[in-house]
Amino acid sequence: MLGAAFAALSGGPVLAQAEQRPEPAPVQASDRPIPPATVQPERIILNLTADPAHQMAVTWRTAPGQTGQVQYAEALDGPDFIATATRLDAVTDDAVLTVREADQFRAAYHSAVMTDLKPATTYVYRVGAGQTWSEWLQFRTAAETAEPFTFLYMGDMQNNILSEASRTLRMGFRKAGDAAFVIHAGDLINRHDSDNEWGEWFASGGFLYGQTPQMPTPGNHEYGRGPVLNPQWRRQFTLPETGPEGVEKLKETAWTVDYQGMRLISIDAPLFHGDAAMRDEMVRWLDGLLADNPNRWTVMFLHFPLFSIDPDRDNSRVRDALKPLIDKYGVDLVLQAHDHGYARGAIGAGAMDNKGPGHVSDHGSTYVVSVAGPKMYPMAALTWADRTAERTQTFQTLDVSPEAVIYRAFTATGRELDAFRLTKGEDGVSRQEALPIGAE
Ligand SMILES: [Fe+2]
Repeated sequence: MLGAAFAALSGGPVLAQAEQRPEPAPVQASDRPIPPATVQPERIILNLTADPAHQMAVTWRTAPGQTGQVQYAEALDGPDFIATATRLDAVTDDAVLTVREADQFRAAYHSAVMTDLKPATTYVYRVGAGQTWSEWLQFRTAAETAEPFTFLYMGDMQNNILSEASRTLRMGFRKAGDAAFVIHAGDLINRHDSDNEWGEWFASGGFLYGQTPQMPTPGNHEYGRGPVLNPQWRRQFTLPETGPEGVEKLKETAWTVDYQGMRLISIDAPLFHGDAAMRDEMVRWLDGLLADNPNRWTVMFLHFPLFSIDPDRDNSRVRDALKPLIDKYGVDLVLQAHDHGYARGAIGAGAMDNKGPGHVSDHGSTYVVSVAGPKMYPMAALTWADRTAERTQTFQTLDVSPEAVIYRAFTATGRELDAFRLTKGEDGVSRQEALPIGAE
C-alpha cells in the first residue's frame, strides 16, 4: 500500500525501472580492507577440553601488545559472585599473521583453560586486562555421568556467512538455546585465511560463542594449498589436544571428547583424504579410540561425506578407510557436510559403493549431509537416504540420553524437516525409527 502511494508520488514507471536495475556485484568480504584488532576483547569463544566436567577453554583476541586475563566464579543469582572471582593469566600469542587481506596483520590472541570446576555447574567469567574487560558471560560444565543433553550440528556456513548463513545458526539457538555445544562440520568460511570472513563467522555467533562451546572440524576451505591450515585456526580456538599423539599437523583438527555418555570424534577430512601418512595416523588412532570406548554413543564428524548426494562427488579414499572401522565398532552417527544439500539415511556393514546399499535401511550407522549456508548444489536421486532436501539451509538438534538419541533437522526458518529416534539393542547395532514431523 505504502509502495503504491510512493510510486504514485514519485512517478511510478520511473521508479519501477529503477527497481529492475541489477544490483552491482557485492564486494567479497575477503576483498575489503581489514579492520585492526580492537583494544576491547573480541571474538570470544568457548571450546570444550578433554575434561568438560571440570574445565572450559576460552580464547579471544585484542590489539597487539595487550596481555590477557580471565576472571571466573561459580555463578550466583545476584552480583555477589564478583567478590569471589578467581583471576587467571592467559597465554598470549602476540602474532604477526599473513592473512588474505594483508601480508602482516598483528593481533594478540589470548587463551586460557579454567580448571578445577565443579561438574554440572553454572560459571560466570569475563576476559580482558587492566581497565578493559568483556561483559560477564555464563556457561555450564558437563555432568560426570550420562545425564541427558542436547547439541547442535551445522554443515557449511562458508558463503555470505554473516548476511545469509547466520540466520541458520541463530535459529538453531532459538530452538536449542541450552545446547551443550555446537558441532561445525567444516567449511566455516570460504577463503581459508581471510580474516574478514573469520570476522563474519564470529559476528554470526556473537555472544553465543562466549556462552556455548563451539566444536569445529576443518573442511577443505580451512586449508590453503600445501595443504596448509589457515593461520587463525589454532590461535582463535583452543580445541582438545587429544588427536594422534605427537602429530603436529593434526593438533586441534583431529580430536576427541567424551561428553555425558557420548564419544565425539573430529576427523581432519582434508588431511585424511590428501595425506596418506596422516590418514594412517588417524586410522590407527581411531582404531584405539573405538576399540576402547566406555560410552553408550559414538558420533564421528568430518567434512567429506562417505556417501554423497551426487554420484559425481565421491570421496572413495575416505570411505574405503573409514567405513570398515565404522562398521566394526558400530559408530552411531556420522555427521558430515561439503555437498551443499541435505540427506540422511542408515547404512549397515558391507555397503562400500558411493550409492550405498541400494535401498533405505532402518538399521546401521546413520549418515547425514547438511548445509547451513546459502551455497546449493543439485542432488541426485538417492536410494540410501530416508530423507533428502535440495536448496534448503538446515541445522540439526540431537537430544541425547542413555536410552535414545532424538534427532531433528530444521530449516533456516525453523520448520521441522526430518526426525527420527535412534536406539541400540544388545547386538550394538543402531536402529532408526521415523518420528512424525512436529511431534514432541
Ligand atoms: Fe567443502
